[in-house]
Amino acid sequence: MAKTKSVAKAPAAKQKTARQKLAAAAPSAPGIDIGIKVGERKKIAEGLSRFQADAFTLYLKTHNFHWNVTGSMFNSLHTMFETQYTEQWAALDDVAERIRALGFNAPGSYREFAALTSIPEEAGLTDSADWREMVRQLVVANEAVCRTARQVLDVADDADDAPTEDLMTQRLQTHEKYAWMLRSLLQ
Ligand SMILES: [Fe+2]
Repeated sequence: MAKTKSVAKAPAAKQKTARQKLAAAAPSAPGIDIGIKVGERKKIAEGLSRFQADAFTLYLKTHNFHWNVTGSMFNSLHTMFETQYTEQWAALDDVAERIRALGFNAPGSYREFAALTSIPEEAGLTDSADWREMVRQLVVANEAVCRTARQVLDVADDADDAPTEDLMTQRLQTHEKYAWMLRSLLQ
């Protein structure tokens, strides 16, 4: 038994050494050089992080109201909120991945989002809140997302960061439309 063990250990030890040699020879990641200076990339990433915090807060609010809406408007609002939060959820991924492509970490915790968002914290409204109050909050939150997107657009424009400008333009168009559609319910 002892002999078998020592025979089995020898190749494993050799493999480990070979892996270590490969790791030592592998090239390390080069610095980011996409044509935007690091200071500008940082400013854009910080703006996108604030946008992400607003967008996530709005996403959660929209999903919350999809769950908790009541009253005569239940069916249409339940469906409308679902359409919006589903689209918003996909966009969150695009924003996070743009931040990563710029070389920075994307925010991804409630603590970070709460610290970064411009949308004030409100009660969850789970106790039979009027649907009009839910819609009003969503109008206000969609407009907050729009204002932050415009700020990021300015910073991205200064750095000729077309992909971020494109992303923010798309989000702006979408959230302005949501704000209009939601506001129309209250007019
Ligand atoms: Fe649902």
